[in-house]
Amino acid sequence: MAGWLDRIRMLNSPLHMLALAAAVKWFGGARARERFGLLTVRPMYAYGLFRAADLARWCGLRRVTAVEFGVATGAGLLAMVEAAGHVRRDTGVEVRVVGFDTAAGLPPPTDHRDHPELWSEGDFAMVHHDELRARLAGRAELVIGDIADTVGPFRESLAPEAPLGFVSMDVDLYSSTVAALRVFEAADPSIYLPAVSVYLDDVAMFTANRWCGELAAIEEFNTAHELRKFDVDRTLPGRRPWPHLNWYARMRVLHVLDHPRRRRPEARRGLALDEDQRRLREYGLM
Ligand SMILES: C[S@@+](CC[C@H](N)C(=O)[O-])C[C@H]1O[C@@H](n2cnc3c(N)ncnc32)[C@H](O)[C@@H]1O
Repeated sequence: MAGWLDRIRMLNSPLHMLALAAAVKWFGGARARERFGLLTVRPMYAYGLFRAADLARWCGLRRVTAVEFGVATGAGLLAMVEAAGHVRRDTGVEVRVVGFDTAAGLPPPTDHRDHPELWSEGDFAMVHHDELRARLAGRAELVIGDIADTVGPFRESLAPEAPLGFVSMDVDLYSSTVAALRVFEAADPSIYLPAVSVYLDDVAMFTANRWCGELAAIEEFNTAHELRKFDVDRTLPGRRPWPHLNWYARMRVLHVLDHPRRRRPEARRGLALDEDQRRLREYGLM
């Protein structure tokens, strides 16, 4: 989790930036607080949800779905519902939030790809999932069980009216990540946004590499799917106020290249350059 480390890093910034951050904290709107990392304890969730809501508006939609794979005690899922509330008030887009966990902690690591040097069976057990459900107060669905069993029925529940737009992948193991990535294998591309923001939690440890864990799982996904591809998020850090936060390098975009929105140009009159810039900014496409 990048949160508190990034906050310490922010303190290393010039005084005028700290003063600006303080002003944004007290007087800024949700978008400004998101850019300054001040909206929730999981800034990457606020970022991903704003991306999803903006792309949903671009597609003429008012609802979108966001998922956390790996919930543990629920700190991340609670941050996601909090961020979803801010996003709804700012954009008018409703976010369906869904969390997945065994409740019993990690399944057993199978081989070196599951990073057995770091994790063991039963790590991060949820313990009180009824208590978490009570705290979520209906603002998120909690799907208990092995993702290998639960991801299929969930994928079936997705619909073009509320497509999948943001995913946090935090199941630690390669084998669990492979199972979770099946969420992106639906035949109908319109149950996704044309580009889905994806946060990968476990790609920045010293033992992380492209042959193990989440990185191996997304490389294999890319090889296996001609028209669904993970790439880095090329808009980060862009012009964001803090250029060096840890979570930027953990963001990916799942490009749904078979999405109808990416298969043919819109029928409309020619765009002027300034209109194009305004549109790209309005829908967060740059
Ligand atoms: C590091 S914790 C998640 C932390 C949480 N995202 C947060 O930010 O507070 C990893 C979780 O993934 C869950 N998990 C791993 N593999 C799973 C699987 N195959 N099915 C369901 N849950 C799984 C574990 O139970 C564990 O609670």
